[in-house]
Amino acid sequence: MISTLIVILLITLITLITLHIGLPIFYYLYMKNKEEDFEKYINNEISYPLVSIIIPTYNEEKNIKDKIDDILSQNYPKDKIEIILVDSNSTDKTVEIASKYNVKILKQEKRMGKANALNYALANAKGEIIIITDADSKWVNKDAIKISVNFLNNKKIGAVTCIKKQYDEKIEKSYRDLYNVIRLGESSIFSTSIAHGEFFAFKKEYLTNFDENMGADDSYASHKITLNNLRSLAVKEIICNELVPKKGYFHWRVRRAQHLVQYFSVAIKDYKKIRNKDYKKIILVEYFLHLINPWLLLLSIFIGIYLLLLHNLISIILFIIFLVSLISKTVRTWILTQIFLIIAQIKNLYNKEIIWEKEEK
Ligand code: GDD
Ligand code: MN
Repeated sequence: MISTLIVILLITLITLITLHIGLPIFYYLYMKNKEEDFEKYINNEISYPLVSIIIPTYNEEKNIKDKIDDILSQNYPKDKIEIILVDSNSTDKTVEIASKYNVKILKQEKRMGKANALNYALANAKGEIIIITDADSKWVNKDAIKISVNFLNNKKIGAVTCIKKQYDEKIEKSYRDLYNVIRLGESSIFSTSIAHGEFFAFKKEYLTNFDENMGADDSYASHKITLNNLRSLAVKEIICNELVPKKGYFHWRVRRAQHLVQYFSVAIKDYKKIRNKDYKKIILVEYFLHLINPWLLLLSIFIGIYLLLLHNLISIILFIIFLVSLISKTVRTWILTQIFLIIAQIKNLYNKEIIWEKEEK
């Protein structure tokens, strides 16, 4: 005889699992079929407006040379590019190395975080188009600036960001592949809900400052631009490479998750201000996926363990299915991401990591 309690627990367990996996799979498949043809934005003839490229740095001596060389290798008139490096009192040779180039260097005496530094640079930028870019990233396409300017030439577009590919293609790759599809789909529908500091181009008139209490400066800036009813697009022609930490991978992923959690908690409060109906749905789903969905997994695990202890047959079968599914890298990546999101929410309660330790890359 199965007791009522076990039946209730089993139904709850199966509902939770279905919801936890079902919604993201549905969202992914929906986005996969949504690709808008962006060609029309790319191939128009453009003038070359002045573009200010801002590189925030804190102890980037290993990367800064490659970073500046990479920007200078772009197909865009050099006299139409203003490179601004904003350094928050690095203790290494970052500034010394950058000084050898024709780069505007802004120094801060005290480190007050990336967003604070970006604001300082923004106030000193002359371009009508701004691109922010992390020192440890590279742009694969030599036309990245030009393409983003082409897009921004359109009145309805306020910002453009890259999709990301890692140099190191281990676990990060399967995570990225999933997420890039979603970024491109969301962009086709209206706007991406997440933007990347490795390449984030925008019209200065629509963004006067970055929020200094928010880790995800990039995504929140993108979101603020969409509140003007402008689109913010992740573009597949603009690919960023970034370094994945050799040490401290776990901490890095948790910090990034913390920043996303902070961002979606604020973005959801803007729900009523969002004018585009589709983007409203995007924010709602992403809020659910980042803040609520991970807990459904945790709850399922607890219920599952309880039922296993009672030697419940169905839960044993479910457990075996779960173990077999771990063969798939996507499943493992997924579960790891849920763990990061849960830890992130807890950690945000006592340390938001607005100023963070550099991981060794
Ligand atoms: N000026 C300044 N001051 N720059 C900083 C500071 C600071 O206090 N802290 C970090 N930076 C710079 C780094 O030197 C680098 O160029 C860039 O900001 C990004 O920092 P990383 O240490 O590489 O962080 P990440 O790769 O994990 O950051 C990613 O997530 C962040 C939000 O979670 C990127 O996408 C960032 O753009 C994003 O802000
Ligand atoms: Mn980085």
